[in-house]
This record gives sequence, C-alpha cells and structure tokens, in this order.
Amino acid sequence: AFNMHNRHLLSLMHHSTRELVYLLDLSRDLKRARYTGSEQKHLRDKTSRSFFEKTSTRTRCAFEVAAYQQGANVTYIDPSSSQIGHKETIKDTARVLGRMYDAIEYRGADQHTVEQLAEFAGVPIFNGLTAEYHPTQMLADVLTMREHSDKPLHGISYAYLGDARYNMGKSLLMIGAKLGMDVRIAAPKALWPEQAHIEACEKFAAESGARITLTEDPAEAVAGVDFIHTDVWVSMGEPIEAWAERIDMLMPYQVNQSLMAKANNPRVKFMHCLPAFHNADTKVGKQTIEQYPQLKDGIEVTEAVFESPACIAFDQAENRMHTIKAVLVATLGDI
Ligand code: CP
Ligand code: NVA
Repeated sequence: AFNMHNRHLLSLMHHSTRELVYLLDLSRDLKRARYTGSEQKHLRDKTSRSFFEKTSTRTRCAFEVAAYQQGANVTYIDPSSSQIGHKETIKDTARVLGRMYDAIEYRGADQHTVEQLAEFAGVPIFNGLTAEYHPTQMLADVLTMREHSDKPLHGISYAYLGDARYNMGKSLLMIGAKLGMDVRIAAPKALWPEQAHIEACEKFAAESGARITLTEDPAEAVAGVDFIHTDVWVSMGEPIEAWAERIDMLMPYQVNQSLMAKANNPRVKFMHCLPAFHNADTKVGKQTIEQYPQLKDGIEVTEAVFESPACIAFDQAENRMHTIKAVLVATLGDI
C-alpha cells in the first residue's frame, strides 16, 4: 500500500505529485482533528532532533509543537551549541545523531549539508530551510492557498515577486510546477533561479500540466492571479551590503496597493513566509528604512498591504505547524 514511511524531505525534487497531495491532505485532516479535539497521537516513543545553524521562529516552534502534540519528544541544538562545523564534520555528526534520534530536521546555509545528513544518518532528514530550498514552507503555502480558494489545485494561480534565486522563489516555482498550478515569477533576470532549476521545473510542469511564467514585468506576473507572494529582499546569511543593490533592483517589485490592484481580482490575497519587513518596528527594518527614503511605506511589502484583510500570512504561519506535523506523521507515524 502507499505510504511515506522513512522518507527524507530535502528539496521537493524527488517527491511525486501524489506524495505531495498526500501530505497536503494529511495536513488538512490533522488540522481538522486538532480543531475538533479528536487528534490521535501517532508518534508515541519517537524522538526527533532539530538542529539549526540559522535562527528560526516558525520552523522551530512548528516542529516542536507538532511533535509534542503527536506524542514525540524533541531536542533542539541552536546555531552555537554543538560541535558541528567547527569541531566535527557533518558526516560524523550524522552518524552519531542517527544512532540516537528517529528523525532530524536541519536548517542551515548549504543544501549539501542536508544531503550529507541524509546519506549518513540512516534516519529521515527534513530540510528546515537552506539557501536553495524551503520545502516544509511549501506545504504550508499550498495548504493555505487551498484553504483560501474554492478552485482545485490546477485552477489556482499565484505570483512570486522579489529575489527568485533564493530558497522561496525557487521552491515556489517547483511546488507549483509539480502540482499543476499557474505559477508566475517576477524578478530582474539577475535574480531568477539558475537555468538548470528552471529547466527542471519546466519538465515537472510538462508532466503535471502546470503553466510557469518567468518575467521581469511585475504587472504581467500578477494579472488575474489569486495569490501574490513575496519574501525578504536580503536573506539570512547574506551580507548587509546586499541591501543597496537589492533595493535598487527590487523596488519595482514591492508589493504595495497599486501592485495588488494590478491583479484585477478583488479576492486576491497576499502571502509571505515571514519574517517580513513591512515597517520600521524591527532593528533591521528601522536601519534600512531610515537609510532609504523610498522605503518609508515598507520594504518588500507595504504596511498598508500587510495589515489589510488581503494578508493571509498568519494563516500561512499557523499552517507551518499542521504541515510539519503531517510530514512527521507520514514519515514516522503508525499510519
Ligand atoms: N518562515 C520561516 O521559515 O520562518 P522562521 O525563519 O521563523 O522559521
Ligand atoms: N529567504 C528567507 C526566508 C526566511 C524564512 C531567508 O532565507 O532568510
């Protein structure tokens, strides 16, 4: 029978459409069970570890809460409190942790690290974000789009605007391509995913019936879409100096009310994986906005859009928990 026991979740590259839909359906069922007080624990006696070389709020908390609600234990290693990287290789760390844990979630810069963990730990590895991919975020994003749409997956259209050569842009292109959706990516060419990634997604699209568009024109990308996504313009691990260049390149792609209006869809929704720079109330937001007067209304998204009823970023954040729970249950659970 079909199951996803012991599967890694490293990118999305190796998951079939059927497997992705299974995880999405399971997320929906687990969420419903939580809401109706009928959740069953499928992970009793399991122990999982999350270890994060980059900081996190949502991914870490989602993983821990999901595991606890399902009866599993979790331990967490923060960016500075293990030997990994400075005193011990990934390969050795993988072989140690695999002796102790039933599954490991990893967040860091390098996709090669999650791949090495998967090769040597002998237990399922989940990618909690690398520079290349953010697969657990993708499940939450699609679950959220499904919840806010009355169309089937292949009828849903979305645009992603901003830095498309990093984890969010690349992953949103791939998940839509795999699920047969209408995906538009808008960014200056220099910030498009690399050609090999585009070609891989074109291949998935040909199989699934997805329509994928890459354009430099934000208005073309958002015309008629159901959802508009963006992400920070400078990601974790990138140098602070990147801001000047990015602002220069990405200002036309800022999600503001005029851009939302270009969707020409009164029901269009705004999505963001978070954290978002929509005002000057954070340290980085303040520093950046004070330095660049053109950002006075927000950086990648304006305060007006972020605080409008069109913004569903907090549903998306909640769904991180239900979808990571589905990954844990599908991989390690007694189902
Ligand atoms: N969206 C997301 O991954 O958030 P965190 O960095 O807080 O985990
Ligand atoms: N692109 C962002 C996503 C954060 C969830 C980063 O990598 O920092």
